[in-house]
Amino acid sequence: MSAVFKTLEAGFEPMTEAQLDAVMAVEREAYAHPWTRGNFADSIRSGYQAQMLCAGPTLLGYFVAMKGVDEVHLLNITVAPPYQGQGWGRVMLDALAQWSRGQSAQWLWLEVRTSNQRAQQVYLRYGFRRVGERRAYYPADHGREDAIVMSLRL
Ligand SMILES: CC(C)(COP(=O)(O)OP(=O)(O)OC[C@H]1O[C@@H](n2cnc3c(N)ncnc32)[C@H](O)[C@@H]1OP(=O)(O)O)[C@@H](O)C(=O)NCCC(=O)NCCS
Repeated sequence: MSAVFKTLEAGFEPMTEAQLDAVMAVEREAYAHPWTRGNFADSIRSGYQAQMLCAGPTLLGYFVAMKGVDEVHLLNITVAPPYQGQGWGRVMLDALAQWSRGQSAQWLWLEVRTSNQRAQQVYLRYGFRRVGERRAYYPADHGREDAIVMSLRL
């Protein structure tokens, strides 16, 4: 299936609090340390860019991003596990990059767990560069885990 075909049959909808049951179901399936419902609700109330990628009634994925001065900080990007590895992450990164350019942002920033090699590969493949580390950034099963900081010039 081509990416063009995919974008025709799937579409973005703003995330609202009414949809957080569906979002939380995917979030819990996708992460050992998921965001809470409150994290999503706070993001929506703060006016962050929170979009869901849907194909009919199916939630394929979502992202949450916060605009700064000349950068956008990607806080959460998730593809529902059954749909991972099919190009949907790239579709969401494209939409986020386009929105960010429209906000006159020059950089996209994100953090990713050091253990999350897969996501790091996805971001590197998309054009992100590794620019730093944040020590003990994430909760982990035992103690805390470091984050890799990555950025993309828009
Ligand atoms: C990370 C995530 C958002 C990526 O979305 P995805 O739909 O699985 O990724 P895609 O299929 O769009 O792949 C994007 C690119 O990365 C590549 N890629 C995907 N999985 C890969 C892997 N395991 N190893 C190397 N490259 C990979 C793809 O080939 C593709 O490159 P291309 O477009 O040039 O062919 C998704 O896997 C996910 O939600 N994972 C669990 C939650 C998570 O880790 N979120 C990120 C937290 S920082």
